[in-house]
Amino acid sequence: MTQMAWVNGVYTAADEARISPFDRGFLFADGVYEVTAVYGGRLVDMERHLDRLERSLRELKFGTMPDRKELEEVHRKLVETNGVDEGYVYLQVTRGAYGARDFVAPEKPRLTIFMFSEKRALIDTASARNGSRIVALPDIRWARRDIKSVGLLAQALAKTEAKARGADDAWLVAPDGQVTEGASSNAWIVTKDGEIITRAISNMILAGVTRHALFDALGQRGGKITERSFTVEEAKAAAEAFTTAATGLVTPVVEIDGVKLGDGKPGAVTRSVQKLYYTAIGADVAKAAPWVNA
Ligand code: PDD
Repeated sequence: MTQMAWVNGVYTAADEARISPFDRGFLFADGVYEVTAVYGGRLVDMERHLDRLERSLRELKFGTMPDRKELEEVHRKLVETNGVDEGYVYLQVTRGAYGARDFVAPEKPRLTIFMFSEKRALIDTASARNGSRIVALPDIRWARRDIKSVGLLAQALAKTEAKARGADDAWLVAPDGQVTEGASSNAWIVTKDGEIITRAISNMILAGVTRHALFDALGQRGGKITERSFTVEEAKAAAEAFTTAATGLVTPVVEIDGVKLGDGKPGAVTRSVQKLYYTAIGADVAKAAPWVNA
């Protein structure tokens, strides 16, 4: 069945959705996006995603905000119409098309808003089960990684390079040797003493919604997370590592640059974090992810 998409107020078959080649998103990557996970037909943390979208737009001085109520409604409608039980809804807002190429942004833009959904497994995936192998690559992105910009070339190149090297994904490393984050996720390590560490929020990384949800879920159980930077060497020597993102939820990392972490299998702390997060989004873990207890 053809999936429905939504462009500027109109529902349309996804493969017939059209925008202008003069769109500033296309010409200048002048736009932002959000990916909201769907599990059990429910949108996971949609409000936090919309908060971050609005923040990104404010930081880029868009001057015009999309209608939040409408965005919420379209999220729900796409999930329903497209029958998304597990997957995500993608939302992109750009500064629009003006039939010319002008670097200077209009004061009051006519936004281009595009949304679609995709059905796909988030919990029972090979990488969630078995972990992913990471390579560390230089972080060549711009200085405003806190803005969820559609300018994703550096991330796309890093992921392509990771695949070419036989790995599953990339972690990005700042010139000072500290890991910033994953190419499309936040990066975490667990020390041999069981301390859970992730980089503090700044313009160097995206403030992940999944990251935030884990702080809440762990906090409620009296768990502690240390917010600090770590080097690739420290990550390689760590007992465990994992990434968080709306698309991979909590994904164990079992290898960095060919160095196995621990015994090369997802670690016990990572498994408990997966279990905690899956439960938080309403999954019946015994059914959806029996391997977390294995
Ligand atoms: N990416 N850091 C980067 C660079 C990201 O691209 C993402 C998410 C995250 C995690 O954020 P969240 O937990 O809110 O998904 C961190 C999305 C999923 C993507 O580009 O597909």
